[in-house]
Amino acid sequence: MIKSDIGYARSFISEEEYIKARKKVDSALEQLKTKSGPGSEWLGWRDILANPNDAELDQIDSLARAVRKDADVFVVCGIGGSYLGAKAVIDALSPHFGNKGVEIVYAGHHMGGKYLEQLLDYLKAPKADGTQKSVYLNVISKSGTTLETALSFRLIRDLLEEMYEDASKRIICTTSKSGGVLNGLIERNGYQKFVIPDDVGGRFSVLTPVGLLPIAVAGIDIKTLFYGAVSAYNYFEEDCEQVLEYAALRNALHEKGITIDIFSCFEPELASLGGWIQQLLGESEGKEGKGIFPSVASFSTDLHSLGQFIQQGTRSIMETFIIIEDAFSHIKVNHAEGNEDGLNYLSGKPFHEINTKARIGTTEAHGEGGVPIVNITLQALNEQNIGELIYFFELMTGVFVYSLGVNPFNQPGVEDYKKAMYRLLGKES
Ligand code: PA5
Repeated sequence: MIKSDIGYARSFISEEEYIKARKKVDSALEQLKTKSGPGSEWLGWRDILANPNDAELDQIDSLARAVRKDADVFVVCGIGGSYLGAKAVIDALSPHFGNKGVEIVYAGHHMGGKYLEQLLDYLKAPKADGTQKSVYLNVISKSGTTLETALSFRLIRDLLEEMYEDASKRIICTTSKSGGVLNGLIERNGYQKFVIPDDVGGRFSVLTPVGLLPIAVAGIDIKTLFYGAVSAYNYFEEDCEQVLEYAALRNALHEKGITIDIFSCFEPELASLGGWIQQLLGESEGKEGKGIFPSVASFSTDLHSLGQFIQQGTRSIMETFIIIEDAFSHIKVNHAEGNEDGLNYLSGKPFHEINTKARIGTTEAHGEGGVPIVNITLQALNEQNIGELIYFFELMTGVFVYSLGVNPFNQPGVEDYKKAMYRLLGKES
């Protein structure tokens, strides 16, 4: 099971401070379990794990298999919680180079004209052998009205209709059960549809068809991923001491003026997972003038950009390291005759060993620099463990945010930006 260790951070708060925070966290867990807190109508992300829907997992799996047989490119069109979870899992478990499976590309997550123009050109362009690309499109929007996603969907839908006679078979919509613009389009055009449960909010939806379909199309075993989360759910229903400790520590550090939590990993394939955690926590906790701003770093790369600030800048930072215990790779440092670069002291050492030393050294240095550090460890990078990590962070988010006295499940501030943008764009209300 995933392990969380607050040991390196514990000395930054007193016993009294911890006990005070722990009381808040314990009652937050109670609120979550008894569905008695604000926003309790959005706790479906726990229910889907308590009662897995195997028929739906099979349905997603079989559609994904069919798509994988025929598609060259699969466009995932969504923003925020509608794509970050899928991207996190896909990036974590796919090869960095030369992936032979279906190419996954993203749209609908911004309104950059240049990106969209280039994407359309890319989808239209023939393959190296001169034949047409086979493109499928998965539009994901719970509300069906998010502008970034809706505009990209309009453009790509149009292109697919131009390119293929069977365009409607290539378009898969993931949206709410009923209502909304997307449902109208589905009915009129006969697109395939998956449902986002009403009681699961976007940023908690990676284990619904929102995340699972793109993840399955990427060739990742969604049943093991899902059941990894189920095993974490069952485990933490019995004993969630580590979740509570981490949430209590964050609560106490928040009280003491910590305003930034940097989620860092030492394996580049985990960078998008940091993006998912950032959104999960950011949209959940940052309200009513409260919250610890979630930031993401990829080490050791960012030790050469953010490292200086973390070590010696304003003391308002904590860090959470996401660690892969067996981050095994075969590659070792080669021996160089003459040792011209002076690196022979490392000859024969596996890179994962060197990277581990970099992490331990960073923990030492940042700890001495006054940064509380939490270690979240997965034994290996695979579907089961990522499933566990997903539920760990969902649960911790719910508990921690309730402990601040905030509703974790709404995002009123995001609505404000939309209102202002629509007014400036002259949208009729
Ligand atoms: O977590 C959330 O609810 C948001 O990030 C949404 O996922 C995001 O705004 C996209 O919304 P929708 O799926 O309605 O297009």
